[in-house]
Amino acid sequence: MQHKLYYPNPELSKNASVKSMDEYNELQNFAKRDYEGFWDSFAKEKITWKKPYTKVLDDSNMPFARWFEGGELNVSEQCIDRHLEKNGEKTAILFEGELGDIQKITYNQLSVHVNKTANLLRERYGVTKGDRVVIYMPMIPEAAFMMLACARIGAIHSIVFGGFSSDAIRDRVIGAQAKLIITADGAYRKGKPYLLKPAVDEAISKGGCESVKNVLIVKRNNEEINIVEGRDEIYNDLIDSYSDKCVAESMASEDPLFLLYTSGSTGQPKGVQHNQAGYILWAQMTMEWVFDIKPDDIYWCTADIGWITGHTYIVYGPLAAGATTVMYEGIPLYPDAGRWWKMIEELKVTQFYTAPTAIRMLHKVGNDEPDKYDLSSLRILGTVGEPINPEAWDWYHNKIGGGTCPIVDTWWQTETGGHMISPLPGATPIQAGCATLPVPGIMAEVLEEDGTPTPVGEKGLLCITKPWPAMIRNVWGDPERFKKAYFGDCKKDGKPVYFSGDGAMIDEKGYITITGRTDDVMNVSGHRIGSAEVEASIGNAEFVAESAVVSEPHDIKGESLCAFVILNLTEHAGFEEMSKEINNIIKNEVGAFAKCDRFVFVPGLPKTRSGKIMRRILRLIAVGEEITQDISTLEDPSVVEAIIKATQEQS
Ligand code: WTA
Repeated sequence: MQHKLYYPNPELSKNASVKSMDEYNELQNFAKRDYEGFWDSFAKEKITWKKPYTKVLDDSNMPFARWFEGGELNVSEQCIDRHLEKNGEKTAILFEGELGDIQKITYNQLSVHVNKTANLLRERYGVTKGDRVVIYMPMIPEAAFMMLACARIGAIHSIVFGGFSSDAIRDRVIGAQAKLIITADGAYRKGKPYLLKPAVDEAISKGGCESVKNVLIVKRNNEEINIVEGRDEIYNDLIDSYSDKCVAESMASEDPLFLLYTSGSTGQPKGVQHNQAGYILWAQMTMEWVFDIKPDDIYWCTADIGWITGHTYIVYGPLAAGATTVMYEGIPLYPDAGRWWKMIEELKVTQFYTAPTAIRMLHKVGNDEPDKYDLSSLRILGTVGEPINPEAWDWYHNKIGGGTCPIVDTWWQTETGGHMISPLPGATPIQAGCATLPVPGIMAEVLEEDGTPTPVGEKGLLCITKPWPAMIRNVWGDPERFKKAYFGDCKKDGKPVYFSGDGAMIDEKGYITITGRTDDVMNVSGHRIGSAEVEASIGNAEFVAESAVVSEPHDIKGESLCAFVILNLTEHAGFEEMSKEINNIIKNEVGAFAKCDRFVFVPGLPKTRSGKIMRRILRLIAVGEEITQDISTLEDPSVVEAIIKATQEQS
């Protein structure tokens, strides 16, 4: 099928960082011809080094690539100090609270906040280079101060998304052996204060968090919270007495910058480790190429700092690029479905970056809301997190972008650190629902399991065949898991190939369309969830013997979860009661976003003789599709009929 192409608007191309497909090809050909030379030229130009590097790329011990070895830098200086002379009075963070309170924090002010905070962490809590700090915070400017303060003193932050439960905090504290937890009393959501601190108390009280010596609390709302004497302190009471000058630690290019836990296809979430130089370089370069960031732009990414999108494209990337980054505390529906559009008008937002699930939701509940606002400041729109369906794309393109703003559909992952496949707004002809081409420097290919290229138009595995600067460096503390999870036996030019876990199709233009995960990772409202995590939680209900969770298509969330559950008792309180009870457990152990929309109570699960659950069969049953594949290899093929029957009876 021939898809409609939207060519870049010449006005935008004229001043864009990459102006045409010729320029794109020139860059990509440079990378293909001289990979190290390509990265060397940008690393020299973009990074303010404290000490120059001596080697661009060491890939002699793949998959453990090392970039810019010998070099030293400090990421907080890259994001703040080097902008002060010329742009000290420019707004760095433009914060809007849910209740409408606005804070404009200039680069000079950001510098003061970050230096003071860094001194506080260093002097009061003895946090030093290499120490781990867990951050559990709402979307307020202090969250960014904390990240940058850690970077300044060389501490490694591990942010836990505010929607996660106490168990997630505890697991991450234990995983990283964190010394300090930084949190807030709470924040505002749906117009009301809510609390975060109790989850931290609960996490610590469960035991195992002995590494934590202190809890630092930022005051956002004035709700009452529990303070443990000798352990908990209020940031706002302390910060004034610290100096606004903190000598930045000189960090080696390959020292860790942060950990971010993300779901995989098996087991519990993995601590994705990103290091200093390569990560910040790519965060900054993609801001310039993909968002075409310019000095007067007001850039807004609606993600949460608890996810990689918030790390790279609310904090590190925009600040490294010297941009003004908008940060919003609340939900898009408060006080109504026009909130985001009102903010775009009032703040004069030029780039707007969000998730398809939010677009679908706002389309459904507030189709005409955008008409009430002047959205003409917008230049570029972006999406991330999941494939975007044509209906949502059209609405976004026409209603929000006035039919003229390019939409950059950016494919990437927690592990990739930054954008990997995306249109460049001044160069690439865009196509609805297609991430188009690799960003220059990225060698993305669609391959078969044995490493041979998948023919045009057929589904294959989306792989990256050369290490890139912002790639995951390790699974924290578990190099074997790192190798196993991302690098199979497949090699290209004798080097291991990175498997993304996503399926994709390439067309004759070389455009790549993402077809979704090929493993047991699910994507609910753009949140990445592993079936194993949810199943472990369901298994904690007393009446559950075993379960398997799959996802099914959902109009707004993209995917929703469906759990097939085997009970260990015959007399019970009823399916509805049990479903509620299980969802409560999931909410407490994982987070509300991982609740299942549907439960089917079944006598058995489709297992192979070696005991592996065939989730593919369950996915077909969930959506009511016929099972055409051979099920004779199952341990008990008759179980399939029984599951189908139960599903029909309980729907
Ligand atoms: C999915 C988010 C289609 C994909 C940055 C990937 C996408 C997972 C897109 C990573 C896109 C992300 N089109 N699918 N433009 N972007 N995905 O780690 O399945 O939270 O593997 O990183 O989201 O999710 P993660």
